[in-house]
Amino acid sequence: MKKEKILELLKQTNDYVSGQSLAHQLGVSRNTVWKAIKALEEDGYEIESQTNRGYRLKELTSQLSALELTQLAPWLKDRLILHPTIGSTNTWLKENQDNLPDRTIVLTSDQTGGRGRQGRSFYSSGGSGIYLSVLYRGANLPDPGFITLAAGLAVVELLEKSGFDPSIKWVNDVFLSQHKVCGILTEGELELESGQMKYLILGIGLNVNHSSFPPELESIATSLALQSGHRFNLNHLTVSLISILDRMMPQISLSLDPAIFRQNTDSLVEQFNRRLYAKGEEVTLSGGSQTLITGRLIGIDSQGRLILETVSGQKAFPYGEYRLTGTAPDPQQN
Ligand code: BTN
Repeated sequence: MKKEKILELLKQTNDYVSGQSLAHQLGVSRNTVWKAIKALEEDGYEIESQTNRGYRLKELTSQLSALELTQLAPWLKDRLILHPTIGSTNTWLKENQDNLPDRTIVLTSDQTGGRGRQGRSFYSSGGSGIYLSVLYRGANLPDPGFITLAAGLAVVELLEKSGFDPSIKWVNDVFLSQHKVCGILTEGELELESGQMKYLILGIGLNVNHSSFPPELESIATSLALQSGHRFNLNHLTVSLISILDRMMPQISLSLDPAIFRQNTDSLVEQFNRRLYAKGEEVTLSGGSQTLITGRLIGIDSQGRLILETVSGQKAFPYGEYRLTGTAPDPQQN
């Protein structure tokens, strides 16, 4: 492709490269060069052009780009499927998983039908966020009971490295300053004969460069840009996030020796409890057929269950969603 070749040439220098030289090196017309430059600009690259001097690459694109991603992380090449726009990365992966290998990643910055937990929608349109799903299958499948927790910690690590101070709302939401910045949806298929998971799909939605949200989400959602006052390069963040996930998921692999697995999950639980949203506060738990239960949030236990100090003593809950008592339930995603 012409634009990739031109980008490669522009990346080789900080200086201007003349249109004529680019055309000559690629054996194309200057008009073709001009069109390729326009296409790169549409992809988000900042290119300066000056009469008699030519073109100079000023800034790499901060939008998701297969080219940038695989340059940053060549090891991603055979694993990554990038869609400029898609209904839902989780749904796509579920429908196509049969032919795809372990750790395939489907990535986009624009979902038209992003899905959240409990059948809710997840606001994820517009090219400002990172929405990705990872397929896990085979011998090293992560433990289904810990995958969401580990993914939450992976996002926390990413955000801490970027200078934020996140907390995690058990079990799948990451918060910045009391506002949701990331949601996680894990899905899978159980193989009835073996009682084992056939595959798991880990879906992560991170709000990055949003400068605003629809009115119904305004008071509950946030983005990295809104919190920090500056925009982030989606390619850099994506590569960092995948690297962290790749390091973390083997720690909860079902193929591990049970003693090592336990050691690892104990450490994850300890890290999770340190960042637990509303720890020590009065919260209300809801979910499934369960009626509302109120209690003081103690933390999560070694099995990843939520522990509340209720009027009838400490109780452990494997499922549910909590909120600070007295606040409204989430209308949808964020
Ligand atoms: C939630 O907050 O309830 C979970 C939201 C999960 C959103 C991610 S975005 C990537 C993947 N694709 C989806 O449709 N959902 C998940």
